[in-house]
Formats: sequence, C-alpha cells, structure tokens
Amino acid sequence: MMGGKLFEVSQDGGMFKDLSVLSPHYVPKELPYRGNEIKAVTRVLTPILSGIKPNNLFLYGKTGTGKTSVVKNVLRELEEAIKSPSANTNRIKAVVSYMNCRLCCNTKYQVLRTVLESDQLKAAELKDRPFDGVRTSSLDGRSPTELYSKMRKTVESNALKLIIVLDEVDMIKDVNDLIYILTRINDEVKEISFEGRAQRGSVIVIGISNKYSFKNSLDPRTKSTLCEEEFVFKPYNAKQLKTILMHRVKLGLRSRSISESNVGLIAAYAAQTNGDARYALKLLQKCCEIAQSQNRKRVKREDVVEAKAKVEEDIIFELITTLPEHHQIALYSIADSAEKGSQYKRLSDIPSDTLFSGEVYESYEKVCKALNRSPKTMRWFGEYLKELEMLGLITLTISGSGVRGNTTLIRLGYPSAEIKKIISASLGIN
Ligand SMILES: Nc1ncnc2c1ncn2[C@@H]1O[C@H](COP(=O)(O)OP(=O)(O)OP(=O)(O)O)[C@@H](O)[C@H]1O
Ligand SMILES: [Mg+2]
Repeated sequence: MMGGKLFEVSQDGGMFKDLSVLSPHYVPKELPYRGNEIKAVTRVLTPILSGIKPNNLFLYGKTGTGKTSVVKNVLRELEEAIKSPSANTNRIKAVVSYMNCRLCCNTKYQVLRTVLESDQLKAAELKDRPFDGVRTSSLDGRSPTELYSKMRKTVESNALKLIIVLDEVDMIKDVNDLIYILTRINDEVKEISFEGRAQRGSVIVIGISNKYSFKNSLDPRTKSTLCEEEFVFKPYNAKQLKTILMHRVKLGLRSRSISESNVGLIAAYAAQTNGDARYALKLLQKCCEIAQSQNRKRVKREDVVEAKAKVEEDIIFELITTLPEHHQIALYSIADSAEKGSQYKRLSDIPSDTLFSGEVYESYEKVCKALNRSPKTMRWFGEYLKELEMLGLITLTISGSGVRGNTTLIRLGYPSAEIKKIISASLGIN
C-alpha cells in the first residue's frame, strides 16, 4: 500500500465528478415538475414583501416528493429578494428559521429555543434581540414563558416577519401548544412606527409532513391555524424520475458512466416504490459504487439490480435499528417464532408462516427475560404490533371465530433470518 495506492480512487474521483450532487442533502437550483408547487408557495409568501402577514402554510406529501427542496428554494429566493438593493423591501425585516423537528427539536420548548438561538436571528440587525442583556450565548434554563416574551418582543420592536419552518412537524410532541403559543404572538404584538410607516410584526409557520394521519391528529383549532393554506405533493412517475436523475447524472458523473436505459430502470424501480426521488438517487449512487468497487468505469444492468437489493437492506436496517427497544424485541420474537414455525398450525388450515399473537407474546416474554428487561403487558404488545404493521414490517389479520376465538394472526414482511441478524446485533442477543 506504499506509494499512495490507498488514495488512488479518491485522487481520480473514479466515475464521480461531484459526489455531493447525489447526496440527499443537495438542493438543486432547478426542480423540474415542481413549478406549480413553487409558484403556490411563492404566492402565499409574497405579502411579506409589502410588510403584510401571509397565511400559515402546511405541505403534505409522501417521502421524497420534493417538499423540503421546494421550501428551501423558495425561501432562498425570498431572502435574496428582501436583501436585493433594487427592491423596495429594505424597510422590511424578515428572518427565516428552518429546522428539522426530528433531528433537533421535538418539543415546543426546543423549537422556541432553536428559533431564538438561530444564527439568522443572531446575525440580523435587530432591536431587542433575544440575547440583549443575556450574558451567555445560550438560553439554557429559561422558562417557556420567558422564551415566549423574548420572541414577542423581538418580533414587535422590529415589525419582524419571523418565518418558522417546521420540517417533519409531526415529530413535535406538544404541537398543539406550540402552534397556539406562536399564534398568540400575532394577537398580542402591537403595531409600531417603523421606517416611517405603521407596521406590525408577525410569526408565520410553515409545517411540512409526510405522515398522512398527522393533520387529523391535531386539535381543530390548530388544524385551521396551521393549514390556512395547504398543498399536497404528488409522487413522481417513472418518466419524471428519469429526468430528475439524468440531470444529476450530468452534474455528478463523468460522461458515459451510466446508460440512459439503466437510468430508466432505476426510475422504474423508484416509481414502483412510492415515486420517491430520494430512493431513486440512493439507487443511482449505490450502483455507481458497486461498479466502482469492481474497478469498472461504467454501470451494468446487474449493478442496478444489485443496488436495489442493497438499498432495500439499508432501508430495513435503518428502520429496525431506530425502533424503540421493545418494538425491536417484539419484532425479534416474531422472526424467531416464524423460524421455528407455528406450534398451532395443525389446529387449523391457516398458512404455516402465520403466527398467533398469543404464541408470539410468550416468545416476547422469553426474549425480555433473556435480556433482563421486564415485559410489557399484552395490551402494550398489541400496540407494538400495530406500529410494526404501519411500518410495513409485518401484516396483521384478525382470524374469524372458530380459529381459537378471535385472535390476531401475524405474518412477517421480510425474511426472518435477516431480521434476527439485524436485531441480534442491535440489542446484543446471542
Ligand atoms: N423535482 C426535483 N428535481 C430534482 N431533485 C429533486 C426533486 N424532488 C426531489 N428531489 C431530490 O430528491 C431528494 C428528496 O427530496 P426532498 O428532501 O425535498 O423530499 P421530501 O418531500 O422533503 O421528503 P421527506 O418527506 O422524506 O422529507 C433530494 O435529494 C432532492 O434534491
Ligand atoms: Mg423533507
């Protein structure tokens, strides 16, 4: 390995011209097929440029349909428009605070702090900033009421338009409270004379979610506040995914690295899997990695097929290892029971890979014991099963009466050995 051989690939870059272009965090300037959504979000936010409070906005759509990218692009443009010396907007103060609630802030308290501590707010030229008079650079230990007052004051004194983007808003546990607090600011903020005219600050909330059930889980009042404007993002079809991918291929890969028909195959796979552009990009990246690991400069059809299997494995791995512990134990018990085969199968004519919830619960209790954990009650166990079903890891059916009364029948969605392997490593079962 002497003589720099280790770094051979990195120096030449292999098939990749610019790897970052294939990353899920890359936000392209152009977003084909999202013109209407971009226009709609822009229309909602335009009143800001005249100092008027726009409506709150809620965006829903399945994963990988471009919600985050559209919002980031429009907000980038809005910030530029506000800064632009040519526009008559220098008398308007606006700050955008974007956050992903899954990653950083799943409570109202954390959201308030994240906004007040955001670099955007710190950097803006404002009166009565949250940190004025505070010795440390953190608002640690402040009560929610204090945070609220600080936000209200900054918004009021500057007639500030504070745009708070709550991406993956469904992760916030006390979201009803949060929306209530934020809208109360709008009711309480007083009009001031700013830059020679009467203006009023306001808080604008943009919520983004891919959970279908989220909207209906909200209090009616929160729902009508947050969803003053609402847009749904449709999944992409195969043709659209192909165009999106071809664009990235041009930017990110050396020419002739992948044929158009192989890009079409990736697009077709992704269209079958919910029309998810992120999944399509993952497939593209993975098949290039496979080709490169075999010292080839061009992707073969088999690489795409292999990439699909690998990416699916990665997704299942991620899904399972991020589950709470008892969900993992429950799933492990199902996989273990499935491997051993149902003990009750001779009692009825149900398929042999179908398990009874009672026997799986017994197995769950045993696994808990082996791991030194107290098993949860049967009722909790039933909840875990429902959640595992929602994630597509198992399917549940209720047996008709006759088969040991009305019992839940469980079927595993993935090979039992694979699931056991992942959970054994994750929970340290040997
Ligand atoms: N119209 C498009 N053109 C180009 N790239 C796109 C387009 N839509 C999505 N993408 C790309 O697909 C990936 C996923 O998009 P994005 O993160 O915006 O999806 P999302 O709807 O927010 O998904 P999730 O609900 O999982 O957060 C990103 O890498 C993004 O750049
Ligand atoms: Mg997103």
